[in-house]
Amino acid sequence: MTIDTNSPNGLRNKLQARTARAGVIGLGYVGLPLAVEFARAGLTTTGIDLDRRKVDAVNQGTSYIPDVQTADVARLVADQKLSATTDFSVIAGLDTINICVPTPLRKTKDPDMSYIVSAVEQIAKYLHRGMLIVLESTTYPGTTEELVKPMLEESGLRAGVDFFLAFSPERVDPGNPTFHTRNVPKVVGGLGPESTALASMLYGAAIDTIVPVSSPQAAEMVKLLENTFRMVNIGLVNEIALMCDRLGLDVWEVVTAAATKPFGFMPFYPGPGLGGHCIPIDPFYLSWKAKQTGFDPRFIELAGQINGAMPHFVVDKIADALNRHRKSINGSTVLVLGVAYKRDIDDMRESPSLDVMALLQQKGATVRYADPHVPALSGRAWAGGVDLTTEPLTPDAIAAADCVAILTEHRSVDYDMVLNAAQLVVDTRNAIAGTHAHVIKLGAPAPALTQTLKAEEAAA
Ligand SMILES: NC(=O)c1ccc[n+]([C@@H]2O[C@H](COP(=O)([O-])OP(=O)(O)OC[C@H]3O[C@@H](n4cnc5c(N)ncnc54)[C@H](O)[C@@H]3O)[C@@H](O)[C@H]2O)c1
Repeated sequence: MTIDTNSPNGLRNKLQARTARAGVIGLGYVGLPLAVEFARAGLTTTGIDLDRRKVDAVNQGTSYIPDVQTADVARLVADQKLSATTDFSVIAGLDTINICVPTPLRKTKDPDMSYIVSAVEQIAKYLHRGMLIVLESTTYPGTTEELVKPMLEESGLRAGVDFFLAFSPERVDPGNPTFHTRNVPKVVGGLGPESTALASMLYGAAIDTIVPVSSPQAAEMVKLLENTFRMVNIGLVNEIALMCDRLGLDVWEVVTAAATKPFGFMPFYPGPGLGGHCIPIDPFYLSWKAKQTGFDPRFIELAGQINGAMPHFVVDKIADALNRHRKSINGSTVLVLGVAYKRDIDDMRESPSLDVMALLQQKGATVRYADPHVPALSGRAWAGGVDLTTEPLTPDAIAAADCVAILTEHRSVDYDMVLNAAQLVVDTRNAIAGTHAHVIKLGAPAPALTQTLKAEEAAA
């Protein structure tokens, strides 16, 4: 009996036998780990990216994503299970495609769908019967069915019949030592049962737990609920921190104690603002879509305002802290400790540290930074116009600053050294334990001014 490789059964058989040829478009923080997992599961996997440097790196067996080991890439490339290309015509020979391209916001906070559109245009050129297309980029509910499906159907092939289409949100948490692509459950919503079943089979080869939902829209909404949940709760705890600051209470003590409740509470921690490619952005995709129906999504807008104001609050804290030492921001050197948007990673996208640095410079500070994960920072990246390189994390470099502002609490930093060497610290992450005369914490009472002055006299 011959198997029709273009039917759902054909793809099912290939997935079962691990002979399906998988493709991943967009080899970034999401796409590269996924391509590696598919290849590790035995599927011959081709990554496609516009960025020639990423493609070359993969083909040379090197990883540029901290969560992906170079040794794994090298082995999979040597075994001919993984390769990369900038040539979209390879799609003609692939059975499955996962789309992992960026979904940023425009300046107006409207979705920028241009990356998805451009990737889908390329797929449409080479689409063939029996193929499975899965969108992974975070996006508004309706994208797969309203935008991607019609573009692909211009080929004359019908979704759910001639080819299969699904949405499956990526939940990767860069830098997380416990949860990786393989052990984070994968939500899958296909256009019809056949698409859901085939997409579940594809992921089932590489990921431990699959969670099918009824439609692509439901899967799209799952991701936006998850990220909106984080954004709103971080907004809430930031507002609690602002209240604690006024009330003379320590928000860190309050959250830590509240987190001992074994049910009905989940701790979120305050900080200098939201960062990364997801939490500050994705909820506005939902907000944009909801507004199309006349619905006003109030929580998202409010949390956006509170989180967006945090860098300004941090700069006010730095000004207050310097004032205690009879100094002003204008003319002081401020060393920002940590510019990545969260600890233990090198990603600076949307990092609030960059906003704090730009605000400090506008007020006349000399801005320096130290970050073991970010060796250099272009003037464009932090809007300060000056290219910077990281200061060494030495007592001399710490002591040279009028104020050290801890904005990202990388675990590799020796905070005892920082505490002992610094003239003054503004700690927005509770990286330094206890209370000290020269440490001002976000959302906590400042030490009495007399204590600071006494410490200053003793040091003089
Ligand atoms: N980074 C995360 O932690 C994370 C987590 C969950 C979901 N997501 C979502 O996943 C998607 C991808 O995010 P990322 O962090 O991997 O982005 P990224 O910028 O790290 O990677 C995207 C890659 O796509 C490539 N690319 C852009 N347009 C292309 C095109 N038309 N054809 C081929 N390649 C193209 C880029 O060169 C880049 O290498 C986004 O929608 C994001 O919201 C990201």
